[in-house]
Amino acid sequence: SQVQDMSSVKTAAAKDMAFAFDIDGVLVHGDRLIPEGKRVLEILNGDNELGIKIPHIFLTNGSGKPEAARCAQLSRILHSPISTEQFIQSHTPMSALAEYYDTVLVVGGENYQCREVAKQYGFKDIVVPNDIVAAQPTISPLKEFFTAEQRATSTPRDFSKVKINAILVFSDSRDYATDLQIIMDLLQSEDGVLGTRAKDPTKNRIPIYFSQGDLLCPTEHPIPRMSQGTFRIALEAIYKAITGVELERVVYGKPELATYKYADEVMTSWMDTIHNEERLPKNIYMIGDNPQSDIIGGNMYGWNTCLVRTGVYQGEGNDKQNPASFGVFANVLEAVQTALKKEL
Ligand code: G3P
Ligand code: MG
Repeated sequence: SQVQDMSSVKTAAAKDMAFAFDIDGVLVHGDRLIPEGKRVLEILNGDNELGIKIPHIFLTNGSGKPEAARCAQLSRILHSPISTEQFIQSHTPMSALAEYYDTVLVVGGENYQCREVAKQYGFKDIVVPNDIVAAQPTISPLKEFFTAEQRATSTPRDFSKVKINAILVFSDSRDYATDLQIIMDLLQSEDGVLGTRAKDPTKNRIPIYFSQGDLLCPTEHPIPRMSQGTFRIALEAIYKAITGVELERVVYGKPELATYKYADEVMTSWMDTIHNEERLPKNIYMIGDNPQSDIIGGNMYGWNTCLVRTGVYQGEGNDKQNPASFGVFANVLEAVQTALKKEL
């Protein structure tokens, strides 16, 4: 019958669209739910006129704890199950680096959770800045506090015998002075051995990677706060001023191309998980609150982009530099409903 035909056309269309959600400023603010986000996930998980799952993944520049822990936390806040198989945070693609570097300095995050993240990614020997402070307290003269807990969770050793192969900034620095100092020491060292100085700072310099480049991040505070991008800019300026050369570095996360390619792979296998069809849906919608990361990256990658007003973006109309191709919406529910109306 016609009614049946119509519904099978719509079902096919529903499997040929997908959403990539930014998290902070779209679905939550820190630990606080953005209420429309809860409804959106109900709709996409099957509470829709077709009663089917509409594929969606989460693509966040967030960082700082293992994927499983973050997904459990988000599932709780959003009242919907979020699987690690549909989840990419800024440092997720950096797991591929474990094949190349044995000993790494992992910077950022709280309570040593990034050490755990690196362990889960398969890095063999993980050093965090506090391990170095515990071994050499004079390394950071500007450090004010070294708490008993920090000391207890640090592993001091003789760092004159350790070759650090790469620096991985996974998350926001909790101590700019100490982290910048230790990173500068390593970047100027001979082959990543603390306490040494390379004759030519550009030769044999160990590589440095950042998990994302956002300057600002929406939080519980009324005005967006500085994020990992500002830490990187500070380091770049210091490095240039002291050595006279530009710092070469690699940045992951949105809007970097590698992250969107990785997202395609995750979307394809998630399609297989929920619909038994291992392929990429044609019409992908990115929903984000940051024109300089979510929107510019989605536009470059050929996705439909939706800018919402619940996070970083507060301007009038569409963003001037990086306009969202599918439009600006008051919140994530309006964006999703408009996309569903167009496609189904
Ligand atoms: O900028 C840091 C991070 O919290 C942003 O997360 O989900 O907006 O990409 P998200
Ligand atoms: Mg955001």
